[in-house]
Amino acid sequence: MKNFTYYTPTKVVFGKDTEAQTGKLIREFGGTKVLLHYGGGSAERSGLLGRIRASLEEEGLAYVELGGVKPNPRLSKVHEGLDLCRKEGVDFILAVGGGSTIDSAKAIGYGLANGGDPWDFHMGRRQAQGCTPIGAVLTIAAAGSEMSNSCVITNEEGWIKRGYSSNYSRCRFAVMNPELTYTLPKYQTACGCVDIMMHIMERYFTPDPDTMLTDGMAESILRTVMHNARILMKDPENYNARAQVMWAGSLAHNGVLSCGVQEDWASHQLEHELSGMFDVAHGAGLAAVWGSVCRYMLDCKPERYAQFAVNVMGINMNCSDPKETALAGIEAMERFFKELDMPIRIHELGVEPTEEQILEMAGKCSRGRSRKVGGIRPLDEEDMAAVYRMAL
Ligand code: NZQ
Ligand code: ZN
Repeated sequence: MKNFTYYTPTKVVFGKDTEAQTGKLIREFGGTKVLLHYGGGSAERSGLLGRIRASLEEEGLAYVELGGVKPNPRLSKVHEGLDLCRKEGVDFILAVGGGSTIDSAKAIGYGLANGGDPWDFHMGRRQAQGCTPIGAVLTIAAAGSEMSNSCVITNEEGWIKRGYSSNYSRCRFAVMNPELTYTLPKYQTACGCVDIMMHIMERYFTPDPDTMLTDGMAESILRTVMHNARILMKDPENYNARAQVMWAGSLAHNGVLSCGVQEDWASHQLEHELSGMFDVAHGAGLAAVWGSVCRYMLDCKPERYAQFAVNVMGINMNCSDPKETALAGIEAMERFFKELDMPIRIHELGVEPTEEQILEMAGKCSRGRSRKVGGIRPLDEEDMAAVYRMAL
């Protein structure tokens, strides 16, 4: 097993009615003036924001509000939030929503604590030295941003989507009430389940040999998400299924499955260019490229994909031909995506990139040929374009 540092400081408050504790939690972490940050309206419509405001007021916390965060959160909204926070003297940011709102909060927090434009961090021009404290009330199990060190923002100038990771932005607390996810449209529930599974698989498909403990955890969480996703397609208000998926979403991306493991992230990196350019839902974009990424990498480590096929997808092992087993596992996962009405090809997202757009995405993803992505088989710019073409 490789050396590692495990640091996951977020206090998780999980279960029914937990959002009522939000004000107290902000006090506990030293907040006095709060930015209440949220998305396009779902939290207002469900009554959640009303309950959050009441909880802040009960604690005597002053707050200002900024809604309107879009999926694939935009840099312009981050700048708007920064201006507001600087003017109002905000010292704590509360994100009520999913990965987009939490990431927008993180970017505002970086800007507040470090000065200047937080986009610099996403472009690798400088490193953050801190972040204004952030708390999250999670309304969708998906991105895992409530416990991750990552922040993904889209700059509308050039439609460039870039992540930035540092422990400074990890949420001080995450309030997770599975009931808050009952109102999710089926499509968003499915996108969320795919994203959670991808966060696990990006770590699971590793070139490392010594990963027995992490493999067992990863395989169990993958099976758990699949089982409960199927329940949620028919019964969206099933509390236990919502709870299993919600906790899985955090465990998938809080770093516990990265311990001692070389990671992959090729599907994510390729998808970020897709959702940056075409504004598709992140989870759906992942489902659309995943099978092609796996088939492209398969020959470099067929036995790894065969292990996945057997332990996660329930395929019988063909010992004389692990590649056949591996391919059967990939096909089984694609059938599962179809059960969730998720795409398994890019055109099923409703977008048809031209050859020029494929080359643009590959160029952006390789940062102009300056990096490769992927663990089992590192992909260069030509490989990236080839995978996009395979996935069309
Ligand atoms: O904006 P509202 O009205 O709230 O609607 C949202 C949005 O349209 C809706 N929604 C959320 N909770 C709801 C709800 N609708 C009804 N009831 C509820 N309870 O769902 C839609 C999607 O929300 P969003 O926050 O975009 O979802 P998600 O959590 O999937 O976040 C996606 C973003 O996170 C990034 C993705 O790239 C994408 O930009 N990621 C962030 C990561 C991180 N920070 O660690 C890692 C991920 O790999 C990912 O890249
Ligand atoms: Zn993701």
